[in-house]
Amino acid sequence: MAVTIKTEQEIELMRVSGHKLEIVHNELRDFIKPGISTLEISNYGEKLIRKLGGIPNFKNYEGYPAAICVSVNDEIVHGIPKKNRKLKEGDIVSLDAGLIWKGYHSDAARTWGVGQISEEAQKLIDVTRQSFFEGIKCAKAGHHLHEIGTTIGAYAGSFGYGVVEELVGHGIGTHLHEEPQIPNFKVKGRGILLEPGMTLAIEPMINAGSKHVNWSDDGWTVTTADGSLSAHYENTILITDGEPEMLTCTE
Ligand code: CO
Repeated sequence: MAVTIKTEQEIELMRVSGHKLEIVHNELRDFIKPGISTLEISNYGEKLIRKLGGIPNFKNYEGYPAAICVSVNDEIVHGIPKKNRKLKEGDIVSLDAGLIWKGYHSDAARTWGVGQISEEAQKLIDVTRQSFFEGIKCAKAGHHLHEIGTTIGAYAGSFGYGVVEELVGHGIGTHLHEEPQIPNFKVKGRGILLEPGMTLAIEPMINAGSKHVNWSDDGWTVTTADGSLSAHYENTILITDGEPEMLTCTE
């Protein structure tokens, strides 16, 4: 499937989808506290998505069992919510959420601290978020796709962090995962030329230690190979002639 250019009507539906997801993320941020389980977070997120008229797009996606991916500490992405996995003060937790509104997908991720967290953990979260904003400075028509990842990787790497290479961002629209793939690091070639109307989910995954990952036996959870903390930040954006438009949260 080729990279799609969305029409103005499609973009309007993507805006509504993204706005609803922003509401979900803001509610989830306020819900996080020591003692709650990762399953409670996912169940609450699913309830919010449905209350807003959306459909959770992750649930049953290739067999993924929940609406929200909840990844704690050294878990990078795709943590499976569990009743007996309780958050405790000092943890960091990555919430990856998405929904479908009238056939159009949105996708966004945030990492939050649980109660008081260490300075190192907060710095990892802040740098991961900032790497996204550095990357999207080149996300405009006339630039090449791979400038985004090159910028993200260089920024996060300058702090000595490991930039995950096994998982990448993606185009998004009538499907959760569309072309193109969007690496968060420098790759060969310039990538496609960006055009107005492309909608992209850009999602740096940054490890405090090495970039290497482990794949859990549960078939989903991806963790850091060295046990270091990891953070994730993702938004769905629209390419325009000028600055990219944020379709999900701005936080
Ligand atoms: Co995504």
